[in-house]
Amino acid sequence: MDIQAVTLTTVGGPVQVETLQLAGPLDGEVLVAMGAAGICHSDQHAISGHHDAQIPCVLGHEGAGEVVAVGQNVNRVRVGDRVALNWIPSCGKCFYCERQQRHLCSEGLQRIWSGYLTDGTSRISRDGDPIMHYCGISTWADHMVVSEASCQPIPDFVPFEVAALIGCGVATGVGAAIHRGELSEGDSVAVVGAGGVGLSAIMGAHMAGAAEIIAVDREPEKETLAVDLGATDFLVADEGAIEKVLDVTNGVGVDVVIEAVGSPGLQQSWLRAVRRGGTLVCVGIPNESEATRIFTADFIRSEKSIKGSYYAATDSAKAIGDLCFAYLEGQLPIDRLISKRVPIAQVQQGLDAMLSGTQGRTVIDFE
Ligand SMILES: NC(=O)c1ccc[n+]([C@@H]2O[C@H](COP(=O)([O-])OP(=O)(O)OC[C@H]3O[C@@H](n4cnc5c(N)ncnc54)[C@H](O)[C@@H]3O)[C@@H](O)[C@H]2O)c1
Ligand SMILES: [Zn+2]
Ligand SMILES: [Zn+2]
Repeated sequence: MDIQAVTLTTVGGPVQVETLQLAGPLDGEVLVAMGAAGICHSDQHAISGHHDAQIPCVLGHEGAGEVVAVGQNVNRVRVGDRVALNWIPSCGKCFYCERQQRHLCSEGLQRIWSGYLTDGTSRISRDGDPIMHYCGISTWADHMVVSEASCQPIPDFVPFEVAALIGCGVATGVGAAIHRGELSEGDSVAVVGAGGVGLSAIMGAHMAGAAEIIAVDREPEKETLAVDLGATDFLVADEGAIEKVLDVTNGVGVDVVIEAVGSPGLQQSWLRAVRRGGTLVCVGIPNESEATRIFTADFIRSEKSIKGSYYAATDSAKAIGDLCFAYLEGQLPIDRLISKRVPIAQVQQGLDAMLSGTQGRTVIDFE
């Protein structure tokens, strides 16, 4: 079938909206009619070349839609199911899957960076030449074939645009706050970078009962949305921001800092705002060639921890289900994270909105 999709053919971009050919689902695969797809900064890292992606590819790794066809031996989903797409299709059998760390699945991670589906081939083509699957789900397309392991059924009352964001930004941000930051009732946290991931970390911190939630962003316009989603304070990310965090905590620092930009400079400097015995959670992903400098004598004497946080930092399929219920119960106002909706033809406007730093998530609307 012909599909409309957003492709990356050259590192540095621009992305193109074009008609491609999509083959039907094979063994263990599913054809999804996309309802909505989110625009995450990791797509931009692929476009800029900061992260390696196999190209040419169809971009997008936040998405939700309806199953419209299934291949042989598909057991998890049926035609008509509404699903959110999970960008780490775990195998359920490897060292990590057996230890309840399915988001670190050896096979799943190898698969998503290969650019192919599970059997090592692509279903997407342009005039007979194969096009790669970004993160195994390539959600910036009106239809896509994915592994059934990438599909997580969602309740009827969760809109596709909400489920799409749960598929990456929300699961990642809430997971960073709750699973890696281990935030609980009364804790203090500073979230540096109030984009889709950081704002989700703020929602997660609020849901966990954190008492002090300080949002930090270089764009002052972010204050309204950050406060709406649960921040108790907002600071513009200037040179005095760390001192202000130390001031409001009587020089102690916060229990947890979540870095949600992906800057080694911010990771290094914001470690200072973590209290002794506290934790810096790094969830923003820097350029792959960059390193962060840590003064280890002070780090050791202050017993701080630095944790990486990838995707939901837990079983991502289970996390998607849990987050859908948290949305339905009113604990996570994910719909308020969405500030712009664009048709696929205007994907560049969505990317520009994200890069401006002034808005919440932009969603590509296929409905
Ligand atoms: N670890 C994971 O599993 C995972 C998953 C998804 C995204 N990510 C990464 O998380 C990061 C954030 O993604 P996003 O989609 O939220 O991006 P985004 O573009 O929506 O948000 C980034 C925010 O950071 C702000 N910002 C930029 N520079 C800043 C600075 N110096 N100080 C303070 N704020 C600054 C921007 O104004 C913007 O609000 C990216 O690096 C992305 O690749 C990681
Ligand atoms: Zn596995
Ligand atoms: Zn993402």
